[in-house]
Amino acid sequence: MEIRTVGVVGAGQMGNGIAHVAAAAGCRVLLADLEPRFVERALSTIGKNLDREIAKGKRAPADKDAVLGRIAGSEVSRLGDADFVIEAVVENEDVKRELFARLDAICRPEAILASNTSSISITRLAAATKRPDRFIGMHFMNPVPVMGLVEVIRGLATSDATAAAVEELARRMGKTPIFCNDAPGFVSNRVLMPMINEAIETLREGVATREAIDGIMKLGMNHPMGPLTLADFIGLDTCLSILRVLQNGFGDPRYRPSPLLVKMVDAGWLGKKSGRGFYEYPQS
Ligand SMILES: NC(=O)c1ccc[n+]([C@@H]2O[C@H](COP(=O)([O-])OP(=O)(O)OC[C@H]3O[C@@H](n4cnc5c(N)ncnc54)[C@H](O)[C@@H]3O)[C@@H](O)[C@H]2O)c1
Repeated sequence: MEIRTVGVVGAGQMGNGIAHVAAAAGCRVLLADLEPRFVERALSTIGKNLDREIAKGKRAPADKDAVLGRIAGSEVSRLGDADFVIEAVVENEDVKRELFARLDAICRPEAILASNTSSISITRLAAATKRPDRFIGMHFMNPVPVMGLVEVIRGLATSDATAAAVEELARRMGKTPIFCNDAPGFVSNRVLMPMINEAIETLREGVATREAIDGIMKLGMNHPMGPLTLADFIGLDTCLSILRVLQNGFGDPRYRPSPLLVKMVDAGWLGKKSGRGFYEYPQS
C-alpha cells in the first residue's frame, strides 16, 4: 500500500519535523495537537525551517508554499481518512496507549499506526489496538529535516507488509531506514542515554564544568556536539522518561537517572524548548 495521507499527532519539536518531511515527500499531512495554537506554532516553525533550507540552497524557493500547502491543521477525531498516522506526543506510555486506542477506533482498518517513541515498547503500544500487525515504531532523529536516520522498530506482531510500506515512506522522505527489534530504548537510546546520564553525573560531582565536559566529548570523540548540549536539545523531560524506561525495562540500577537530571526536570528546566537546561536559550 502506498502511503499518501499522513496524520501526525503531537506538533512539538518532533511532530513539526515529521510533518515537514512528509509534506516535502509529497504526502498530504494532517497535523493535530491538544490545542490549535500548538499547531499554529508548528506551522510557523516549519515555515522558518523551509526558509533555512532555501537559504542553504537545499530547496527551491517555490517549494515553500507547495510544502506548506500540503499541511493542514487537524484534530485526532478527524484523522479517519489517513493511510498512516504517527504520534509524537509526550514520552508517557499511558498517554500513548490511550491515544492509540482512540486512533484504532477512528482510522480505517487498513491504515498503519506508528509511534515516534524514543524508548517505549512497540509491542505493548501495539497491544492497545486491534491491529498489532499494522503497528510499527518509526523513530526519527532530532532535528528531523536535517538528520538522515529513521530507526524502524518492529513489534512482535508487525507484518512484513507494514515494515515494507514504512521503509518505502522513510526513503521517500529522504531518510535511511535501519531496522531493529523491540527492546527498551531500541538501539539508539540504549547506547546514547547512559552516556548522557554519565555526563550529567560528571557535572553533578564537580569533575568538570559543563563547557569542559561538552568540549572533551566534542573534540576528543569527534561528536558534533557535547552530551549536555545534546540533552538540552532532546529535552530533559524526554531524557528522564527514556532513562526510566531503561531502568524499569532492564531492572538494572546502572540506568538510574542522575538526581541532578530529576531535579532539573522538577524545576521545569527542560532544555532548549523551555529556555533553560544545562545552558540558557533566549526564547524568540
Ligand atoms: N526530542 C527528541 O530529540 C526526540 C527524538 C526522537 C523521538 N522523540 C520522541 O518524540 C515524542 C515527542 O517528543 P518532542 O521532543 O517532540 O516533545 P514536545 O514536548 O516538543 O512535543 C510534544 C507535543 O505533544 C502534544 N501532546 C501531548 N499529549 C498529547 C495528546 N494526548 N494528543 C495530542 N497531542 C499531545 C504536546 O502539546 C506537544 O505539542 C516523544 O515520544 C519523544 O520521546 C524525541
